[in-house]
Amino acid sequence: MDIPRFRLDGKTALVTGSSRGIGKAIADALEGAGARVVRHDSKACDLSDPAALEAWFDGLEKAGAAPDILVANASVQAKIPWAEFPRDEALREIQVNFLATLRMFQRAYPHMKARGWGRLIAVGSVNERRPHPDMCVYAATKAAQENLVRGLARQLAPEGITVNNLCPGVFATDRNREALADPVYGAKVLSAIPMHEAAMPEDAAGAALLLASDAGRYITGSTILIDGGLSIPG
Ligand SMILES: NC(=O)c1ccc[n+]([C@@H]2O[C@H](COP(=O)([O-])OP(=O)(O)OC[C@H]3O[C@@H](n4cnc5c(N)ncnc54)[C@H](OP(=O)(O)O)[C@@H]3O)[C@@H](O)[C@H]2O)c1
Repeated sequence: MDIPRFRLDGKTALVTGSSRGIGKAIADALEGAGARVVRHDSKACDLSDPAALEAWFDGLEKAGAAPDILVANASVQAKIPWAEFPRDEALREIQVNFLATLRMFQRAYPHMKARGWGRLIAVGSVNERRPHPDMCVYAATKAAQENLVRGLARQLAPEGITVNNLCPGVFATDRNREALADPVYGAKVLSAIPMHEAAMPEDAAGAALLLASDAGRYITGSTILIDGGLSIPG
Protein backbone atom coordinates (compact mmCIF):
# COMPACT_ATOMS: atom_id res chain seq x y z
CA MET A 1 0.00 0.00 0.00
CA ASP A 2 1.46 3.36 -0.96
CA ILE A 3 -0.73 6.27 0.13
CA PRO A 4 0.61 9.60 -1.23
CA ARG A 5 -0.16 11.57 1.95
CA PHE A 6 2.12 9.26 3.94
CA ARG A 7 5.07 9.83 1.56
CA LEU A 8 8.06 11.85 2.79
CA ASP A 9 10.00 12.32 -0.45
CA GLY A 10 12.20 15.41 -0.28
CA LYS A 11 12.05 15.62 3.51
CA THR A 12 14.99 15.25 5.87
CA ALA A 13 14.23 13.45 9.12
CA LEU A 14 16.45 13.35 12.18
CA VAL A 15 15.70 10.58 14.65
CA THR A 16 17.75 10.59 17.84
CA GLY A 17 18.64 7.26 19.40
CA SER A 18 18.03 5.46 16.11
CA SER A 19 20.80 2.88 16.40
CA ARG A 20 18.36 0.41 17.95
CA GLY A 21 14.97 -0.11 19.53
CA ILE A 22 12.06 2.23 18.90
CA GLY A 23 14.21 4.92 17.29
CA LYS A 24 15.55 2.49 14.71
CA ALA A 25 12.04 1.26 13.86
CA ILE A 26 10.86 4.86 13.41
CA ALA A 27 13.91 5.78 11.30
CA ASP A 28 13.38 2.71 9.09
CA ALA A 29 9.71 3.62 8.58
CA LEU A 30 10.45 7.25 7.67
CA GLU A 31 13.17 6.11 5.28
CA GLY A 32 10.77 3.59 3.75
CA ALA A 33 8.36 6.46 3.11
CA GLY A 34 11.04 8.31 1.13
CA ALA A 35 12.67 10.61 3.70
CA ARG A 36 16.40 11.18 3.89
CA VAL A 37 17.06 9.99 7.43
CA VAL A 38 19.86 11.22 9.66
CA ARG A 39 20.59 8.44 12.15
CA HIS A 40 21.96 9.12 15.59
CA ASP A 41 23.34 7.35 18.65
CA SER A 42 25.35 8.34 21.71
CA LYS A 43 28.61 8.21 19.72
CA ALA A 44 27.22 10.59 17.02
CA CYS A 45 26.35 13.03 19.84
CA ASP A 46 26.04 12.41 23.57
CA LEU A 47 22.94 14.41 24.45
CA SER A 48 24.07 14.75 28.05
CA ASP A 49 26.70 17.21 26.72
CA PRO A 50 25.10 20.53 25.67
CA ALA A 51 28.24 21.67 23.81
CA ALA A 52 28.31 18.45 21.79
CA LEU A 53 24.69 19.04 20.79
CA GLU A 54 25.52 22.53 19.47
CA ALA A 55 28.54 21.24 17.51
CA TRP A 56 26.49 18.38 16.08
CA PHE A 57 23.70 20.70 14.91
CA ASP A 58 26.27 23.14 13.45
CA GLY A 59 27.59 20.20 11.40
CA LEU A 60 24.11 19.19 10.26
CA GLU A 61 23.38 22.73 9.12
CA LYS A 62 26.68 22.96 7.23
CA ALA A 63 25.91 19.64 5.54
CA GLY A 64 22.46 20.88 4.48
CA ALA A 65 20.84 18.31 6.76
CA ALA A 66 18.78 20.54 9.05
CA PRO A 67 15.66 18.44 9.69
CA ASP A 68 12.14 18.98 8.38
CA ILE A 69 11.12 16.21 10.77
CA LEU A 70 12.73 15.86 14.19
CA VAL A 71 11.98 12.86 16.37
CA ALA A 72 13.47 13.33 19.86
CA ASN A 73 13.60 9.68 20.80
CA ALA A 74 16.83 9.11 22.77
CA SER A 75 16.46 9.08 26.54
CA VAL A 76 18.14 7.85 29.69
CA GLN A 77 16.62 6.38 32.82
CA ALA A 78 17.71 4.88 36.12
CA LYS A 79 15.69 2.76 38.52
CA ILE A 80 16.45 4.20 41.95
CA PRO A 81 14.01 4.91 44.82
CA TRP A 82 13.12 8.61 44.76
CA ALA A 83 14.32 9.33 48.32
CA GLU A 84 17.83 8.17 47.38
CA PHE A 85 17.88 9.56 43.84
CA PRO A 86 21.29 11.24 43.31
CA ARG A 87 21.32 14.81 42.07
CA ASP A 88 23.85 13.99 39.33
CA GLU A 89 21.60 11.31 37.85
CA ALA A 90 18.56 13.61 38.09
CA LEU A 91 20.49 16.34 36.23
CA ARG A 92 21.57 13.83 33.54
CA GLU A 93 17.96 12.74 32.96
CA ILE A 94 16.71 16.33 32.88
CA GLN A 95 19.45 17.22 30.37
CA VAL A 96 19.01 14.27 27.98
CA ASN A 97 15.24 13.80 28.25
CA PHE A 98 14.07 17.40 28.47
CA LEU A 99 16.70 20.09 27.89
CA ALA A 100 18.23 18.38 24.83
CA THR A 101 14.74 18.05 23.32
CA LEU A 102 14.05 21.73 23.94
CA ARG A 103 17.39 22.74 22.43
CA MET A 104 16.99 20.51 19.36
CA PHE A 105 13.52 21.94 18.81
CA GLN A 106 15.02 25.44 19.08
CA ARG A 107 17.76 24.57 16.57
CA ALA A 108 15.38 22.94 14.08
CA TYR A 109 12.64 25.55 14.33
CA PRO A 110 14.14 28.38 12.19
CA HIS A 111 14.62 25.97 9.28
CA MET A 112 11.07 24.65 9.57
CA LYS A 113 9.70 28.18 9.85
CA ALA A 114 11.59 29.25 6.71
CA ARG A 115 10.10 26.28 4.82
CA GLY A 116 6.59 26.78 6.24
CA TRP A 117 6.51 23.08 7.13
CA GLY A 118 7.84 21.06 10.03
CA ARG A 119 7.27 18.18 12.39
CA LEU A 120 8.52 18.19 15.97
CA ILE A 121 7.89 14.84 17.65
CA ALA A 122 8.87 14.04 21.22
CA VAL A 123 8.96 10.44 22.33
CA GLY A 124 7.44 10.29 25.80
CA SER A 125 6.42 7.38 27.98
CA VAL A 126 3.40 5.78 29.59
CA ASN A 127 5.23 6.85 32.76
CA GLU A 128 3.67 10.27 32.17
CA ARG A 129 0.38 8.63 33.17
CA ARG A 130 1.60 5.82 35.45
CA PRO A 131 4.95 6.73 37.01
CA HIS A 132 7.03 3.70 37.99
CA PRO A 133 7.83 4.14 41.71
CA ASP A 134 11.58 3.86 41.08
CA MET A 135 11.58 6.03 37.94
CA CYS A 136 9.81 9.15 39.21
CA VAL A 137 12.50 11.47 37.86
CA TYR A 138 12.40 9.87 34.40
CA ALA A 139 8.58 10.09 34.48
CA ALA A 140 8.76 13.76 35.45
CA THR A 141 11.15 14.59 32.58
CA LYS A 142 8.76 12.91 30.13
CA ALA A 143 5.77 14.77 31.62
CA ALA A 144 7.67 18.05 31.25
CA GLN A 145 8.32 17.19 27.61
CA GLU A 146 4.60 16.54 27.06
CA ASN A 147 3.76 19.93 28.55
CA LEU A 148 6.36 21.58 26.31
CA VAL A 149 4.74 19.92 23.29
CA ARG A 150 1.36 21.42 24.13
CA GLY A 151 2.86 24.85 24.74
CA LEU A 152 4.70 24.86 21.43
CA ALA A 153 1.90 23.32 19.37
CA ARG A 154 -0.38 26.28 19.97
CA GLN A 155 2.33 28.77 18.93
CA LEU A 156 3.70 26.93 15.90
CA ALA A 157 0.45 25.75 14.30
CA PRO A 158 0.06 28.93 12.20
CA GLU A 159 3.55 28.33 10.76
CA GLY A 160 2.78 24.89 9.36
CA ILE A 161 4.69 23.12 12.13
CA THR A 162 3.01 20.41 14.18
CA VAL A 163 4.29 19.33 17.59
CA ASN A 164 3.29 16.02 19.12
CA ASN A 165 4.17 13.49 21.79
CA LEU A 166 4.42 9.78 21.00
CA CYS A 167 4.19 7.65 24.13
CA PRO A 168 5.34 4.03 24.22
CA GLY A 169 4.15 1.66 26.92
CA VAL A 170 6.21 -1.49 27.56
CA PHE A 171 8.37 -2.29 24.53
CA ALA A 172 10.73 -5.23 24.14
CA THR A 173 13.96 -3.26 23.68
CA ASP A 174 17.45 -3.44 25.16
CA ARG A 175 16.63 -1.16 28.08
CA ASN A 176 14.14 -3.55 29.64
CA ARG A 177 15.19 -6.87 28.15
CA GLU A 178 16.63 -8.06 31.47
CA ALA A 179 13.63 -6.94 33.52
CA LEU A 180 11.13 -8.62 31.18
CA ALA A 181 13.22 -11.81 31.15
CA ASP A 182 12.81 -12.12 34.94
CA PRO A 183 9.92 -14.63 35.22
CA VAL A 184 8.31 -13.04 38.29
CA TYR A 185 8.79 -9.36 37.45
CA GLY A 186 8.12 -9.92 33.73
CA ALA A 187 4.83 -11.71 34.42
CA LYS A 188 3.76 -8.93 36.79
CA VAL A 189 4.46 -6.26 34.17
CA LEU A 190 2.67 -8.09 31.36
CA SER A 191 -0.37 -8.91 33.51
CA ALA A 192 -0.94 -5.17 34.07
CA ILE A 193 -1.19 -4.58 30.31
CA PRO A 194 -4.69 -5.24 28.90
CA MET A 195 -3.05 -6.84 25.83
CA HIS A 196 -0.84 -9.01 28.11
CA GLU A 197 2.20 -8.64 25.90
CA ALA A 198 5.06 -6.23 25.31
CA ALA A 199 5.13 -4.19 22.11
CA MET A 200 7.75 -4.66 19.41
CA PRO A 201 9.72 -1.56 18.25
CA GLU A 202 7.83 -1.66 14.92
CA ASP A 203 4.58 -1.02 16.81
CA ALA A 204 5.64 2.63 17.19
CA ALA A 205 6.44 3.14 13.51
CA GLY A 206 2.93 3.66 12.10
CA ALA A 207 2.00 6.42 14.53
CA ALA A 208 5.36 8.13 13.95
CA LEU A 209 4.81 8.08 10.20
CA LEU A 210 1.31 9.48 10.65
CA LEU A 211 2.63 12.38 12.75
CA ALA A 212 5.57 12.98 10.40
CA SER A 213 3.62 13.09 7.17
CA ASP A 214 0.85 15.15 5.60
CA ALA A 215 -1.56 12.38 6.61
CA GLY A 216 -1.27 13.79 10.14
CA ARG A 217 -1.18 17.46 9.20
CA TYR A 218 -4.20 18.33 11.39
CA ILE A 219 -2.84 16.59 14.52
CA THR A 220 -0.93 18.89 16.84
CA GLY A 221 -0.46 19.16 20.59
CA SER A 222 -1.50 15.52 20.91
CA THR A 223 -0.17 12.65 22.93
CA ILE A 224 -0.56 9.32 21.18
CA LEU A 225 -0.19 6.37 23.52
CA ILE A 226 1.06 3.08 22.13
CA ASP A 227 0.68 1.06 25.27
CA GLY A 228 -1.70 -1.85 24.73
CA GLY A 229 -4.15 -0.10 27.06
CA LEU A 230 -1.74 0.14 30.02
CA SER A 231 -2.61 3.77 30.78
CA ILE A 232 -6.37 3.17 30.97
CA PRO A 233 -7.33 3.92 34.57
CA GLY A 234 -9.26 1.40 36.65
N1 LIG B 1 11.35 0.50 25.76
C1 LIG B 1 10.28 0.86 26.44
O1 LIG B 1 9.57 0.02 27.02
C2 LIG B 1 9.88 2.30 26.50
C3 LIG B 1 8.74 2.63 27.24
C4 LIG B 1 8.34 3.95 27.32
C5 LIG B 1 9.07 4.92 26.66
N2 LIG B 1 10.18 4.59 25.96
C6 LIG B 1 10.92 5.65 25.30
O2 LIG B 1 11.15 5.32 23.95
C7 LIG B 1 12.41 5.86 23.53
C8 LIG B 1 13.26 4.77 22.93
O3 LIG B 1 13.39 3.74 23.88
P1 LIG B 1 14.13 2.36 23.52
O4 LIG B 1 13.70 1.39 24.55
O5 LIG B 1 13.93 2.06 22.08
O6 LIG B 1 15.66 2.76 23.78
P2 LIG B 1 16.96 1.87 23.71
O7 LIG B 1 16.72 0.58 22.99
O8 LIG B 1 17.50 1.84 25.10
O9 LIG B 1 17.91 2.77 22.76
C9 LIG B 1 18.30 4.00 23.24
C10 LIG B 1 18.83 4.84 22.11
O10 LIG B 1 19.15 6.13 22.66
C11 LIG B 1 20.55 6.38 22.48
N3 LIG B 1 21.07 7.06 23.66
C12 LIG B 1 21.10 6.61 24.94
N4 LIG B 1 21.70 7.52 25.73
C13 LIG B 1 22.06 8.56 24.94
C14 LIG B 1 22.74 9.77 25.16
N5 LIG B 1 23.18 10.14 26.38
N6 LIG B 1 22.94 10.58 24.11
C15 LIG B 1 22.53 10.24 22.89
N7 LIG B 1 21.88 9.10 22.60
C16 LIG B 1 21.66 8.27 23.63
C17 LIG B 1 21.18 5.00 22.31
O11 LIG B 1 22.43 5.12 21.62
P3 LIG B 1 23.57 4.01 21.81
O12 LIG B 1 23.17 2.85 20.92
O13 LIG B 1 24.82 4.68 21.37
O14 LIG B 1 23.58 3.62 23.24
C18 LIG B 1 20.11 4.29 21.51
O15 LIG B 1 20.18 4.63 20.14
C19 LIG B 1 13.01 6.52 24.78
O16 LIG B 1 12.70 7.89 24.79
C20 LIG B 1 12.28 5.86 25.94
O17 LIG B 1 12.21 6.69 27.07
C21 LIG B 1 10.61 3.30 25.87
